This record gives sequence, structure tokens and C-alpha cells, in this order.
Amino acid sequence: MKHLIDPTDLTKGEIDDIIALAEDIIAKPECYHDCLRYNKLATLFYEPSTRTRLSFTSAMMELGGNVLGFSDAKNSSVAKGETVADTVRVVENFADIIAMRHNLEGAPFIASTVAGVPIINAGDGSHAHPTQTLTDLLTIKRELGHIDNITIGFCGDLKFGRTVHSLIKALSRYEGVKVVLIAPDELRLPDYIKHDVCEKMNVDYREVKTIESVISELDVLYMTRVQKERFLEEEEFDRVKDSFVLDCEKLASAKKNMAILHPLPRVNEIKPEVDADPRAAYFRQVGNGKYVRMALIYSLLKWKNDPSHVMPEHPDFFEDGELQCHNSKCICNHEPAPRLFRHTPGGHIRCAYCDSFIK
Ligand code: NCD
Repeated sequence: MKHLIDPTDLTKGEIDDIIALAEDIIAKPECYHDCLRYNKLATLFYEPSTRTRLSFTSAMMELGGNVLGFSDAKNSSVAKGETVADTVRVVENFADIIAMRHNLEGAPFIASTVAGVPIINAGDGSHAHPTQTLTDLLTIKRELGHIDNITIGFCGDLKFGRTVHSLIKALSRYEGVKVVLIAPDELRLPDYIKHDVCEKMNVDYREVKTIESVISELDVLYMTRVQKERFLEEEEFDRVKDSFVLDCEKLASAKKNMAILHPLPRVNEIKPEVDADPRAAYFRQVGNGKYVRMALIYSLLKWKNDPSHVMPEHPDFFEDGELQCHNSKCICNHEPAPRLFRHTPGGHIRCAYCDSFIK
């Protein structure tokens, strides 16, 4: 059985197959209308969502399946103090596959350690968002024709933006991808992505301070919202909230076929005037999200009993009752969980649930 908690839970071959399947679904939707009849998807959303939850729902409906779940944990037994692990053990009796979004980092990972059905991480805190990554990869493929050999600029909140972390991880396995990180000091990409992903995988990356200084080099410009809800101090958010605004003037020196992506929702980082530019791909990106989730749900259910599609082994993981994760937003500090850590390629130790630095 296969879960999708982190983009690297899928091999590159599996990702390419899911993208190819999504393209086939787009070309021949009528062939897939009934293929998951009588199957049920549970959407357990402990955090707000528009696109992700509705696209999962729409995806399952288009495959002929049914959907149940909650979009507000206050209406579930969570309000009575039920753990994520227990909720999943209950819900797996009612559904064939579960998509979970949670404000605590590592929550879908805990779910996957106890579940008898595939778990899909639909976003955990500021950590990861692998189904947005599949959406982004399909969008890049459809807009540019290829994913290899692109230069992509990530702009905005690279610290808390989980879609950025997951997309960089996935792109690190493609050939010749160059990454430019455009962020104020306060919102720079976390070290674990720079060191354990970019450096380990030899990704050519650099950090710059303005969009203008790099826009002419880019094949993809990936804009992000400053994640207000993740800041501990309101003043800190106020200082950085208007750091970058994309407008038509800045686009003047961009390549004619550069694709502008954004996971949405946007706040003020892309001016509405940009929407009419043919390079603005973010609303097409939303549509791709439905097709790629159809391909993902279909694939995970097909692979459920297939021994050639199993979760990757983690020889770098270990349990240690003495070590402590200090991230207050990590699930391991909110419910009983094995004290699980991992060794990094650079000789450090990180929490296996949230990737925060231990020592
Ligand atoms: C993103 C998310 O939830 O992380 N949205 C999405 O899923 N499309 C981005 C965001 O909230 O800024």
C-alpha cells in the first residue's frame, strides 16, 4: 500500500505515471467516469480550504465514487479530544482512502502509521503539501511542454509556504532544474530544504532580493502568499506582508512563454491586471488540480494490494526516548507518538514528523 505524505513517498516514475494518467483523463474524460463506483473518499479537513477540498471532492465524484468527511473539526469528535490516530482508525471503517489537512505538522504522517487505507496529506502546517506539488508539476508540463531543464523562481513566503517546500523536493529529482529563491530575510527557505534537498541532490539554487533582478531568466515564476496564520507575532507579519507585488510593469522583461504559477489564494502579491496576461497560469493550475487528484486517487487505490508499490524504507529514521522536538506545531507534542527522528546527510538530527532541527 502507498500513502502520499511527502512528495518523495512516490518514486519519480510513479509521479510521471500519475501526470501521464492525468493528461489521459483530460484527453478522454468519458473513459474514467465510472471507474471508482462504490468507492469512498473521506476528506478530514482540520484547517480551512477551498481549492484542495473541493478539488478532491470533485475528483472523486468524476470518477464515480462518493465522498464523506468534515471541513471543520469542531463538528467532529476532535472537539472531544480524540487523537488523529484514533480518528483515522475509526474513519478507515467508512472509507477506502483518506485525504487529511491539518494545522499540526506531521499529523498525516501519524495517520499513515496506523491506517489500513491510503492516507493523502492535503497540507500539514507549514511543512508539506504534496498534492499541490502534483498539480504544479502537471501545470508546468502543460504550460511549457517539459519539466526538466527549467529555471524556476519562488517568490514570497518561502519559510512557511508548504507548497514551495514540497515542489522543490519534487523538482530536485528532475534534470537540469535551476531554482532562484526570492524572499526577504525573515521568510527565507528553511535550512532543511536547502541542505537536505538542494545540496544533497545537487540542485543549482541561489537567493536574491528582488523579482526584477531575475525575472528575465525564468521559465516559471511561482508566487506565494505570506502565510499570516503561521506567524507567532502580528508585527512580524506586518513587516513583511507587502514584500513582493507582481504587476504588468515587472512582467515586461520576462520571457514571452514564462508561466506564472500561484497555489492560491492570493492576497495582494499578484495585481489583478496580471490576470489578463496569457502567461498567468494560476487559474488553469486550479483546474489541473482536479485532474491530477483523480489520477492520484485512482492510482493509490489500484496500488493498494500491489507489492511493487510500497512506501519507501527510511534507514535514516530512529527512535530515541531522550530526544525532544521543540516545535509547538508538531503533532508529536500533541498526542502520544513514538519519538521518531532522522539523521541528516549533514550529520544533524531532525524530527521525523516536522523536520525541525534537534541537534
Ligand atoms: C495553499 C496551501 O493551503 O498551502 N493553498 C492551496 O492548497 N492551494 C497555499 C496557501 O494557503 O497560501
